[in-house]
Amino acid sequence: MKTKLLADCAADLLDAAKLLREGQVVGIPTETVYGLAADACNEEAIQQIFSAKGRPADNPLIVHIAKTQQLAEIAASVPSLAQKLANAFWPGPLTMILPKHHQIPTITSGGLDTVGVRMPSHPAARALILLSGVPLAAPSANRSGYPSPTTAAHVMNDMQGKIAAVLDGGTCNVGVESTVIAFENEDTVRILRPGYVTEAMLRNVVPNVILDPAILQQLPQGQIVRSPGMKYQHYAPRAHVTLVKGSQEAFHSFVRQHVATDVYVLVFDEQDKIPDVSCLVYGATGEEQAQLVFSKLRELDDLGAKQVFVHAPNPNGVGLAVYNRLIRAAGFEVIQV
Ligand code: TXA
Ligand code: MG
Repeated sequence: MKTKLLADCAADLLDAAKLLREGQVVGIPTETVYGLAADACNEEAIQQIFSAKGRPADNPLIVHIAKTQQLAEIAASVPSLAQKLANAFWPGPLTMILPKHHQIPTITSGGLDTVGVRMPSHPAARALILLSGVPLAAPSANRSGYPSPTTAAHVMNDMQGKIAAVLDGGTCNVGVESTVIAFENEDTVRILRPGYVTEAMLRNVVPNVILDPAILQQLPQGQIVRSPGMKYQHYAPRAHVTLVKGSQEAFHSFVRQHVATDVYVLVFDEQDKIPDVSCLVYGATGEEQAQLVFSKLRELDDLGAKQVFVHAPNPNGVGLAVYNRLIRAAGFEVIQV
């Protein structure tokens, strides 16, 4: 199959929507990361997503909608807190886990009786949902285990020949995937995956917010997880990644002791660069880091890096999402200096 590269223009949006209606898989831009989209109710199309990604069958997909009314076709029931959260954060990077409507096939929900739903804000994603006339199931458009894609070129790199088309909607603004939450009771939500919508932002709407322990820790083998995605290796480039926590001074002295060919470092800004060491900058604020982290991990592979020392981000606000992705990219190898 030759993968078509489509532009964010009316003719190509119509072309992409037609492919989606016909049960094909299309790489689509969202404000978070690119998604690998197909009709959420078409089992064969969903099977193609799992095959193209090499994704385990028990890892559920998020269903994307463009109008709040569509929620009633995806979720069997919507708690009033979910409605409040939708009003506050949609369209935007928040995914809510809700009881699954029987119209959503179990292949889409990875065999679970719940389903993740979100309304993306990227105009092209919204247009594709409306033009195709179907809710779109879409995981991140990387091959399973690799860093998520934030440009159409990243998607092409991973999916060339495996899917019908990629729609180029530019570089993703947010850069890390949506915040995923589950409902514990009528006034409590649990964050399963941190994202751009932070704990503090959720607290403006929800009385109680719990951070799932799996966000910052490796789960013991065999432990039951609330979100199947938590148990798989994630976001890892080919290079060996080590997360290094500590002050700039301590980080620099650690790196100087480990300089070798093919050793690279990922630092915050110009001041954090180390003379005579191959340095890439990924941002000084949580927002900047979120936007760049995945593309920098991919760039390190393109450069042939074998070992990467990443100056660990501050795990607060949006930084928690960045930290969560990086500890997984590092296979939980964290050094405190
Ligand atoms: O920003 C995003 O969320 C992107 C864009 C494309 O929308 N999508 C994305 O999908 O990140 P994916 O499949 O790469 O990650 C979805 C995560 C997985 O960790 C999955 O296990 C979890 O959400 N998830 C999905 N449905 C779930 C459910 N019913 N219960 C628990 N966890 C669920
Ligand atoms: Mg993913």
